[in-house]
Amino acid sequence: MQDIHELTIICGIDKSGAKEDVEKIRICPGEIIGIVGPTGSGKSSLICDIEQLSQGDTPTRRKILINGKAPGRDIRTDPRKKRIAQLSQNMHFLADMTVEAFLRMHAKSRDRNSNTVERVISIANTLTGESIQPGHQLTILSGGQSRALMAADIAVISDSPIVLIDEIENAGIKKQEALKLLAAEGKIVLVVTHDPVLALMTKRRIVMRKGGIRQVITTSTGEMNVCTELVRLDNYMMSLRNTIRQGGLVEQAVVV
Ligand SMILES: Nc1ncnc2c1ncn2[C@@H]1O[C@H](COP(=O)(O)OP(=O)(O)OP(=O)(O)O)[C@@H](O)[C@H]1O
Ligand SMILES: [Mg+2]
Repeated sequence: MQDIHELTIICGIDKSGAKEDVEKIRICPGEIIGIVGPTGSGKSSLICDIEQLSQGDTPTRRKILINGKAPGRDIRTDPRKKRIAQLSQNMHFLADMTVEAFLRMHAKSRDRNSNTVERVISIANTLTGESIQPGHQLTILSGGQSRALMAADIAVISDSPIVLIDEIENAGIKKQEALKLLAAEGKIVLVVTHDPVLALMTKRRIVMRKGGIRQVITTSTGEMNVCTELVRLDNYMMSLRNTIRQGGLVEQAVVV
């Protein structure tokens, strides 16, 4: 795929067939965009449209342009050319192989060097509680471990200019760290989230309702201040969660 300087969403229709309220959204490298909305409002469908580089051929009728143009068929169908990485909402490993064998195979397909496997595992282990071992079978990994492994795989092996993340907060991994890891400089990142901290960490957020894009909100200075407060509260919550997970007691509230 050529250098990407713009990703454009040409809006389509909602679940009732009515036009979406926004005509077009342009996103440039270096931007993290949030996607928010109630359950069933079409957030994952929007992510899927981008992943497929849809051209009016999905139920939403959206079109996705790269650098202002419809991408060719070869880019849409060849994963080596598409270079869009997606951390999807529901993930199950079907391959019955070890973590190491899987990563080795993936690294080889992307021409990465031999120490890649160790790097992916050690990064994944910064996001999880119980560490992942190279000899673990993929199928025995927990939900959180699988997501951490895939986040690290996307950051190191897939390393694509467009990154799509469908809810990182429910997996029990360190969500802020994971978002920072995936949103490396110069990437276009879209992150579906129900989490106020993550939503306010983005520059803009797309609001979905009834399958359609309703508006795009730019994060204000006031909201950034709220975000700073929320991060403090969230870190406090995390520390309590950790203590409780480790079997500790939490008898005194700390004012944060
Ligand atoms: N514009 C649309 N036209 C037709 N169907 C749609 C449209 N948008 C979403 N849908 C359908 O609505 C259902 C719910 O959408 P989706 O899974 O994208 O919601 P979601 O916001 O990701 O929900 P959750 O928060 O539960 O993950 C899906 O079956 C999807 O195919
Ligand atoms: Mg969803």
